[in-house]
Amino acid sequence: MNQFSRKVQSIKMTSTTLNLVVAACNNRGIGVDGRLPWRIRQDIDFFKKITTETKDPEKKNAVIMGRKTWFSIPEKFRPLKDRINIVLSREMKEIESGVYLSKSLQEALELIKDRDLSSKVEHVYIIGGSSVYKEVMTGPYKCRLYLTRIMADFECDTFLPDIDEKVFQKIENPLNVPSGIHSENGINFQFEVYDKLQT
Ligand SMILES: NC(=O)c1ccc[n+]([C@@H]2O[C@H](COP(=O)([O-])OP(=O)(O)OC[C@H]3O[C@@H](n4cnc5c(N)ncnc54)[C@H](OP(=O)(O)O)[C@@H]3O)[C@@H](O)[C@H]2O)c1
Repeated sequence: MNQFSRKVQSIKMTSTTLNLVVAACNNRGIGVDGRLPWRIRQDIDFFKKITTETKDPEKKNAVIMGRKTWFSIPEKFRPLKDRINIVLSREMKEIESGVYLSKSLQEALELIKDRDLSSKVEHVYIIGGSSVYKEVMTGPYKCRLYLTRIMADFECDTFLPDIDEKVFQKIENPLNVPSGIHSENGINFQFEVYDKLQT
């Protein structure tokens, strides 16, 4: 490892916790045809609550997402309200005003540390899709995973990477998620939280 990559590595390791929020079904599927395969109101409400709430009323949370996830959000709900929206794309040249565009995850994280944003951001949420989850889960980031485990089968074309239980430790009875098995539209699901072990 040269001096530059060591410096980049140390920036990554000391960065704030990246909180991944994802709902996945039995085959770890998360999406189909550019949308969610299911409609579970309680999960949408959980997503909204966890990504929006801050302790400090002067601050907001940042949500980082890939380009396809951005476009999977119905236009009338974009950008996600009361959150700092950051979209990752190597191709897009512009995006509507008030939304940040970054060419890489690293660039997005540097943007958050930047003078303008650092005092305004409380937590950072990674909200998909597949390759962004993978980059965070397998990379040298401190991270927490909020998983809505959907106990059902759905046809999917987009998947969450395998959760390596040697790396991700399940938190028992986490405080900030509803406990137990829930049910909606005949679908059972539960909220789980995992912390990535620091190596
Ligand atoms: N169940 C859930 O919790 C959940 C959550 C999120 C999304 N979804 C579903 O997942 C699907 C969309 O996810 P997806 O995996 O197909 O796509 P995605 O990750 O949202 O978007 C992929 C695109 O994002 C950009 N991108 C990704 N990583 C990047 C990086 N490190 N640097 C720069 N750009 C990067 C690239 O855009 P360019 O090609 O423009 O360079 C890439 O083609 C939809 O079906 C959606 O409904 C489900």
